[in-house]
Amino acid sequence: MNNILEVNQLRVAFHTKYGQVQAIRGVSFHIARKEVVAIVGESGCGKSATAQSILGLLPKRNAVRSGSILLEEENLLSLSEKQMKEIRGSKIGMIFQDPMTSLNPTMTVGEQVAEAFVVHLGISAKKAFHKAIELLHLVGIPSPEARAKQYPHQFSGGMRQRVLIAMALALEPHLLIADEPTTALDVTVQSQILDLLKDLQRKSDMSILLITHDLGVVANIAQRVLVMYAGEIVESGSVEEIFARPQHPYTWGLLESLPRMDDKKGGKLRSITGTPADLLNPPTGCAFAPRCPYTMEICENTMPSEYSLSSDHKISCWLQDERAPKVSWTYERNALEQ
Ligand SMILES: Nc1ncnc2c1ncn2[C@@H]1O[C@H](COP(=O)(O)OP(=O)(O)OP(=O)(O)O)[C@@H](O)[C@H]1O
Ligand SMILES: [Mg+2]
Repeated sequence: MNNILEVNQLRVAFHTKYGQVQAIRGVSFHIARKEVVAIVGESGCGKSATAQSILGLLPKRNAVRSGSILLEEENLLSLSEKQMKEIRGSKIGMIFQDPMTSLNPTMTVGEQVAEAFVVHLGISAKKAFHKAIELLHLVGIPSPEARAKQYPHQFSGGMRQRVLIAMALALEPHLLIADEPTTALDVTVQSQILDLLKDLQRKSDMSILLITHDLGVVANIAQRVLVMYAGEIVESGSVEEIFARPQHPYTWGLLESLPRMDDKKGGKLRSITGTPADLLNPPTGCAFAPRCPYTMEICENTMPSEYSLSSDHKISCWLQDERAPKVSWTYERNALEQ
């Protein structure tokens, strides 16, 4: 099988005192081997909930999942907590936004990286520490022998994220899930970390699911993009397709809100007006309709069908219907060159 991951009709709801938050509302996608797929969308659209569903890290207390998540043909939703623990860190590596909270302040960096080897491979602490130093070198940490003996607070944010990448890659996972891995870092460090990820991915057989709210990041590293809005994928396609022929008005909004490199006048960033859908009471029609400049009557009461522009470009929007008025959107700058 060519796909490392297949997610089918994933639904996630959180029970809260206000009712059920329908965070993920029927999401389906796949990731091929060696492919980098990005999920983009505004805050609250369900990006992290999707990642946590795959990792089995949703809070047990109030989250319910349904659908299926096949990792190399094994349905993760039917595995026990013990089995999922084994998969996390071995078959699936993960990195999150905040490198400080993911590291243990009381252990040296080397010991933390070595831990995966001791736990999963059962090798001696000394051997594991040596392997950890090799990994720290691989992720671009200077003087890794000396650095391995230091504690996380002695590292900068960018260096800490490199440590987390080393930990995530220790057991050569087939899939890496990176949830906003560079959001907490400043711009230059962000691009260094992304370059590192890209480089490590190219040298291995690993696939990456990259979560970001920044379409600019996507263009640099991903091959395919899933645009999420209010718990659904509203448009998906190759990076080239999404940047050259975006079709969903929400994707247009995301593209318009990208900062312009060529903007010498210091023009204002455009953001999408209106507030995201209320997931406690999800709409019966298109969730984007209240914010969409092109809303038609049908949008407000009927969920849009999925249209295919090509085998790899899908859009859930009534504007794709042949009876809909033709709306053209032009994007005068080339976002891929950002
Ligand atoms: N533990 C929880 N209990 C209740 N609701 C939750 C919980 N976790 C997430 N949610 C809700 O589920 C929805 C999706 O959240 P999620 O964290 O997946 O968003 P996101 O796209 O990752 O946003 P961000 O860009 O801010 O990280 C949001 O409406 C959020 O408020
Ligand atoms: Mg998130």
